Amino acid sequence: MFISMEQRIFRMARAGGIDTNPTTFMQRANTFASAATQYGTTTMLTRREQTGLNGYVIMPAEAARSKAALALAHTVGAKSEETQLPDDLGDTPVIGTLTFRPSPVLRETQNGIDPSEFPKLLANTMPEGSWVAVSLRKPSNRERKFHTKWHNYRLGNANPQHHSYSPSAIMISVTAGGASQDEVRALLGQFTSGMPGFDLDTDVRFPKTRHSSWLGVPAGLLLAAATIFGLPQIPLDLPGFTAPSLFAIAGFLLVTGLAGLTGRMRSPEVKLRAKLSAAQFPPPPSRRTKPRPPHKEETIKRTINEGGEKKTIDKHIKAFDGDYPFAPDVFLVGPTVVVGMVSPHAGAISGETVSRERATPPAMLQPIGPFIGTNQDGKAHLSAPAMTFSVAVVGRPGSGKSLLTRTLFGWHCLERVAPCGRPGYPGRNNTLIAFESKGDGVAKYQAWGHTMGDRTLVIDVADPNTPGIDLFAVPGTNEEKALFFTNAMIYTFGKDAIGYRSATTLKAVLTAALAVNDELIESIEGRDPAVIRTGMSPMYYAYLLLAGRSDKVGVELAEGIKARAVKLRERGSPDPVIEAGWAAIAFLYDGTTPSKRAGLVEAPFSKIEDLLALEQWWSPSRRKVTWDQIIEGHKSVIINTGTSATGAVLDDSVNHAISSLLMFSLQNALKRLTSGWLEQQRYVTIFADELSLLSGSSPEVIGWIRDQGRSYGIRAILATQRPEQLGPQLRSNFLTYATLISFSQTDVGTAQEIAANLGGHGEWTQEDIQFLEPFHVVIRSEVDQKRQSAFIVKLPNFEANMASYPAAQGYVQAAA
Ligand SMILES: Nc1ncnc2c1ncn2[C@@H]1O[C@H](COP(=O)(O)OP(=O)(O)OP(=O)(O)O)[C@@H](O)[C@H]1O
Ligand SMILES: [Mg+2]
Repeated sequence: MFISMEQRIFRMARAGGIDTNPTTFMQRANTFASAATQYGTTTMLTRREQTGLNGYVIMPAEAARSKAALALAHTVGAKSEETQLPDDLGDTPVIGTLTFRPSPVLRETQNGIDPSEFPKLLANTMPEGSWVAVSLRKPSNRERKFHTKWHNYRLGNANPQHHSYSPSAIMISVTAGGASQDEVRALLGQFTSGMPGFDLDTDVRFPKTRHSSWLGVPAGLLLAAATIFGLPQIPLDLPGFTAPSLFAIAGFLLVTGLAGLTGRMRSPEVKLRAKLSAAQFPPPPSRRTKPRPPHKEETIKRTINEGGEKKTIDKHIKAFDGDYPFAPDVFLVGPTVVVGMVSPHAGAISGETVSRERATPPAMLQPIGPFIGTNQDGKAHLSAPAMTFSVAVVGRPGSGKSLLTRTLFGWHCLERVAPCGRPGYPGRNNTLIAFESKGDGVAKYQAWGHTMGDRTLVIDVADPNTPGIDLFAVPGTNEEKALFFTNAMIYTFGKDAIGYRSATTLKAVLTAALAVNDELIESIEGRDPAVIRTGMSPMYYAYLLLAGRSDKVGVELAEGIKARAVKLRERGSPDPVIEAGWAAIAFLYDGTTPSKRAGLVEAPFSKIEDLLALEQWWSPSRRKVTWDQIIEGHKSVIINTGTSATGAVLDDSVNHAISSLLMFSLQNALKRLTSGWLEQQRYVTIFADELSLLSGSSPEVIGWIRDQGRSYGIRAILATQRPEQLGPQLRSNFLTYATLISFSQTDVGTAQEIAANLGGHGEWTQEDIQFLEPFHVVIRSEVDQKRQSAFIVKLPNFEANMASYPAAQGYVQAAA
């Protein structure tokens, strides 16, 4: 107990890359685990210090001699440097321990994720001064045996794939320190969710701040009182020493209680702190009692003897999950689950940068367009003319894509207000269309427009007090409008969701729905005015015609359309629109049996129902503008498909649907209206901070922007979090936009793909992309249609001071 084992401590300093090949990583982690647990307890410690995030390993000198630190360094892409034991861990304001929380459900495991993710997550979440420590020891055979039973029962099968079955599995306990209980809870919560493959539910326990003997004070007082007042009441003949001995016990309780209260008896917390001050983490404890094994629900037959008669009865035994096989603050895990915590590959925060700096192409150091960022070579600019070949922005969540997109919006506002007049600059005749997918960017887009002196219109999909965009506003008959809208729906939901037959039905009911007007509705005799309502959108009438309410209501409305057509014809004033409406749905409603009709309307119905969730958007009572007005009028609009300023929220699926419908109809309008605009020096610039919402189910629209958009004067600045979700065709189209701007990427595959797209025959590696520092980007672009080599810049936060932006961009006069 009192042997102070000689300990050594090593820091994991960054060296080279981390080998993320799962097999290599696992082998190395196992080597470390067996060396580290051979001679006692080893602890891995990650601390957020002033210098950044540092990983340490504290181990018995014996383990160090057997090169355990070296093995760990190898695993996590580091060099192990011997250093001093920290002596201030005991001073952390709050220390907490992770404990098991019984739960029937397994969390989704993160098996197979990139081990370098874990330290990055920690780097992002650990406040300065906080730390997490994982102590490890070998499991005993007994512990393994109980675990196997418990775990097999939990999973319902034996799962030898699970990391905890690895022969190198280790018992761990996790302690963390931070400024407050909340901070420690949050930290340990992040920690467990970051451990790849860890799938148990957990709680956090804080060591007791008083020795439990303090309870002796109330207990002693109670006992004394009971002796004084209670004893004489007992009518038994008690031996004479009863009262004195009870007083003695009460006195003893009081004394120890007072000792507990005044800190003479050291509380668990004080003991722990004393240990941590010497960097001595206690080994993961063992369970005190034998765990009860799990068993299934069952009914057994029992023979009992009742009044001399033998009887068989059924005895029901409830299922039992079994006791957690270890002490509550101990977990059995494969080494790969935890070793990543000390990896120094958490980006800039782990010390020196890995992404090598590259020379900036001299052409891009000239003022040829928006000044985008700085580096060792000076100020880098994007070429204004090259932006007609579109700009692709990629980066992991929270990297700064939206801010960059909005900043470029600001630059275009500036050009509209004070055109600099240089060739290829977009100038005044430039329609701006910004898609905001979350909602929180709307105010910032507005602020950009306003601060640059431009006017902007906000179209907030979820807020009926802002105008909507009329998605049926294409030239032609109702039949043509219906066909157009059906195609928009196919783009949005995919050919699988809307096949040929569904498309035919959709087009028919939309043609009819567009013909419906209030007079027609009012002419329907005996209708239920709450169902067949006036003043509703075509989407609503299409929904009724698809038997959305009931077949009967569908028939009533269809008959109404027919009757109206007949009546007007008989009056000598036939209405061709209503006639066409009826003609379109005759195949559904002219003598068709309800069951046949049901077969035809079933599939398209659900998609219309999705869109109907947004009746206020389609409603005729909402003020509408058309794409034609926006584009031809060179307006600047911000379209918000996210949470509105009023707090209304769109469902994710509705957000996606409406974004894609908008994009499809925008492209239709562009094709109709802007052919040849480049020559006329008229432009439409599209900004979107989440491309995947706009891209519908097929790559064609976004692909068209790159391939044909230029001659239409289209400039697109499109960002996405997860290019891997775009589908191979769209992704390769997107990543080959003339300008590619990449923030750091966590997905290894994507990082690799981006590196490959930066060109230069392997000059850029996946790691260069993974380890970009915050707010740094790689830019690969063109000047005068010549590809420039890629380089890195740091992006200033222009949004923090918009008023100074015009001057920073060389528009000094315009700032007025
Ligand atoms: N160049 C910068 N300098 C300083 N802070 C920045 C910079 N760019 C972005 N930020 C800050 O980083 C945070 C995230 O930025 P932003 O919303 O643009 O990220 P994102 O990549 O669009 O995220 P998401 O993928 O979640 O949409 C914001 O708080 C923003 O203010
Ligand atoms: Mg964003």
